[in-house]
Amino acid sequence: MEYILLPAVLLGIMLAITGLIILADKALGSGGLKKIVINGTKEIEVTSDDTLLNILSQNKIFLSSACGGKATCGLCKCQVTEGGGDIKPTEMSLLSAKDKENNVRLTCQVKPTSLTKITIPEGLLTAKEFKTKLVKMTDLTYDIKLLDFKLISPNTMPFKPGQFAQIKVPGIDIVRAYSIASNPSDPSHIEMIVRYVPKGQATTYVFQALKVGDIVTLSGPYGNFFLQEQSKRDIVCIAGGSGKAPIRSILSRLKEQGMTRKVRYFFGAKAVRDLYYTEEMKQLQKEFPNFEYIPALSNPLPEDKWNGATGLITDVLDRMTGDLTEAEAYLCGSPGMIDACIKVLNKHQIKPANVFYDKFA
Ligand SMILES: Cc1cc2nc3c(=O)[nH]c(=O)nc-3n(C[C@H](O)[C@H](O)[C@H](O)COP(=O)(O)OP(=O)(O)OC[C@H]3O[C@@H](n4cnc5c(N)ncnc54)[C@H](O)[C@@H]3O)c2cc1C
Ligand code: FES
Repeated sequence: MEYILLPAVLLGIMLAITGLIILADKALGSGGLKKIVINGTKEIEVTSDDTLLNILSQNKIFLSSACGGKATCGLCKCQVTEGGGDIKPTEMSLLSAKDKENNVRLTCQVKPTSLTKITIPEGLLTAKEFKTKLVKMTDLTYDIKLLDFKLISPNTMPFKPGQFAQIKVPGIDIVRAYSIASNPSDPSHIEMIVRYVPKGQATTYVFQALKVGDIVTLSGPYGNFFLQEQSKRDIVCIAGGSGKAPIRSILSRLKEQGMTRKVRYFFGAKAVRDLYYTEEMKQLQKEFPNFEYIPALSNPLPEDKWNGATGLITDVLDRMTGDLTEAEAYLCGSPGMIDACIKVLNKHQIKPANVFYDKFA
């Protein structure tokens, strides 16, 4: 009997040890201790096998990640000078030749090795995570809502007009980018304009689950798209759909400065039911002769009785624009609309360095 029991006990012990090793491996990561050196000064030590993006965010360094790590937004880039391994096929289309030359990588696709050295521009290290409360939610159209978040902790998010923040969707742990639509003079509130995307994960949460009073985690501010405040150039703004959000923030700053620069704002929509903030824009026009608002409808309905500009926003822009050699442009909306409008701006001699945009991809 003893002869039978002994091997069984040994087998049990071996299985238990193997289980413990597997659990430890999962918890600690198969590669053991990893050191990440940031900008040659800050060091993080981890044992997990997570992506560089997640490790940074767990250590309160928030890089923009609008697609939530799916390698589609291309916003989570940083320079990985050592230990990033080879570029993955998923990164290829989002890295330019210059990025590849400079060891720029998508942090959501990089798994750090034992020693990983990275460089993050100081400007990107300002993004933080914020606990906020949704204090107001307003329907702007049938598929666009304005969200007003009051910041709780930290209680302000200083941002530049045009920048964006990210909403963390509770439960499914994804983040999505939304441009800040409010006035940067009040950093205790962050307003966002969200357009419903059928079957979209974040927008379904916003439209079907989010309620006034809910506590929501935001991070930010992010982005290089913001008003060039030192410039005195005339401005052309172009937006479609929820692309009005960052332009609203930019206009609020220009208004505070007395609208000293000439601003023409082209807003593209299908029909009257897709227009919003029309009264706000009309009021701004009344107050400041330097400001002109040009809503353009591509498919006005007969009942719209529309007598404003009609046609694709590109055609309206082309028709109504003169020489732009000395102008500056701010564009926001779908990637297709932005690419098409930039071609028109180029035709009107704008200098590429004076064109700023955020593609809502
Ligand atoms: C810098 C930046 C700023 C942005 N600012 C805003 C903003 O101010 N307001 C706003 O509403 N959105 C904004 N977006 C878009 C936003 O981040 C989300 O991509 C969008 O809300 C869809 O998220 P979702 O999780 O609901 O859809 P997902 O679950 O990510 O997508 C579901 C499906 O819809 C498709 N899809 C995704 N987005 C769109 C779209 N816009 N139109 C049509 N199909 C789409 C996807 O390809 C996918 O097939 C911004 C994006 C970026 C990168
Ligand atoms: S998070 Fe979007 S590409 Fe990495």
